[in-house]
Amino acid sequence: MNKKIKQKVLITGGAGFIGSHVVRLFVNKYPNYDIYNLDNLTYAGNLENLTDVESKPNYNFIKLDISDEKEIKKLFERYRFDSVIHLAAESHVDRSINDPLSFVKTNVIGTVVLLNAFKNCWKHNFDNKLFYHVSTDEVYGTLGEEGLFTELTPYDPNSPYSASKASSDHFVRAYGETYNMPYIISNCSNNYGQNQFPEKLIPLFINNIINNKPLPVYGDGNFTRDWLYVKDHAIAIDVAFHKGKIGETYNIGGFNEWKNIDLVKLLCELMDVKLDKEKGSSEKLITFVKDRPGHDLRYAIDASKIKNELGWQPSVIFEEGLDITIDWYLENTEWLEHVTSGLYQSYYKNQYS
Ligand code: NAD
Ligand code: DAU
Repeated sequence: MNKKIKQKVLITGGAGFIGSHVVRLFVNKYPNYDIYNLDNLTYAGNLENLTDVESKPNYNFIKLDISDEKEIKKLFERYRFDSVIHLAAESHVDRSINDPLSFVKTNVIGTVVLLNAFKNCWKHNFDNKLFYHVSTDEVYGTLGEEGLFTELTPYDPNSPYSASKASSDHFVRAYGETYNMPYIISNCSNNYGQNQFPEKLIPLFINNIINNKPLPVYGDGNFTRDWLYVKDHAIAIDVAFHKGKIGETYNIGGFNEWKNIDLVKLLCELMDVKLDKEKGSSEKLITFVKDRPGHDLRYAIDASKIKNELGWQPSVIFEEGLDITIDWYLENTEWLEHVTSGLYQSYYKNQYS
């Protein structure tokens, strides 16, 4: 996409974790774009994530469910978005195990509703148009002790979440093949950083340490994830959106593998210092609990394609990113209190009791 051309960009899921960082980056960096943040504000969506950009003249918010076919169609007819950056999704693996259908509704049906609305809006005249789909490395399934996911790794999803994301990726490709719709897909590894909902490993454990609650490590803790700072992911999306080749997939990752148990121990060490607690006291909260069903052993991304072809690579060192993240949660207690009140309590009880 040409940065100089004024365009209307629809960003879905912008009041969630990664989406809010993408919206902020685009609103501030591209004052010539009109940014429309579409989100139906599920438990994971929170407009407090974007208070610093809400009064900018190029920012607009639309509260709508992406699977609402009639309203989405009307919206595209009204605004005629030039491009879509699609992040809205049900995103938590544990929730997908308990309620797969809501993942199909949002991640599969919602994506197809958006693809259809985009296609019908531009009727095969797709000059300077782009559907950018944000996906996950979990579509590739699990790795053993060796190897990395590349863009050529066959899809092999293991959880209802990853199956729904894999399905949405396939639909995006199919619209490209069948209707010549210009698309780019990126598949990213585990993100961490400010504004992540405290159901995911890092913010959940920060919150539990603050509240002196057990740290529920699944299985033996020897599961590996490749961690990327959320602002680096937002930059990668910006780069691939503007410089990526139509019809291509880009893997995005941190070149930063951690076994869960090692990561949790590092987090405990940092939290002891931040909270001025006796060395080793947070670690005492570690509790090994029943494993997640179908738990993928290891994810690790080979991000050399986006590095070599588009010049993106991670910029934030993990220990520094983690430090910034912990500080943010310690400074934003009101945000944490708001998101952990109400329904969070019943989710937590159901998941961990
Ligand atoms: P999140 O759960 O924090 O946010 C998702 C957002 O989507 C929320 O604001 C929610 O309100 C909104 N949403 C959900 N259902 C909707 C619907 N039906 N209609 C409109 N809006 C809806 O998720 P996240 O972690 O920020 O992930 C964003 C995207 O990035 C997802 O597509 C996810 O699959 C992908 N991804 C996430 C990670 C990660 O580590 N978190 C890594 C790779 C890819
Ligand atoms: O890889 C990208 C994916 O990363 C994204 O597509 C998903 O949206 C995102 O949720 C994330 O999925 P994971 O399942 O890897 O993330 P989560 O934070 O839930 O778990 C990370 C690891 O920590 C995983 O091995 C499970 C483990 N875990 C998690 C929780 C919540 C625990 O041991 N205990 C826990 O309480």
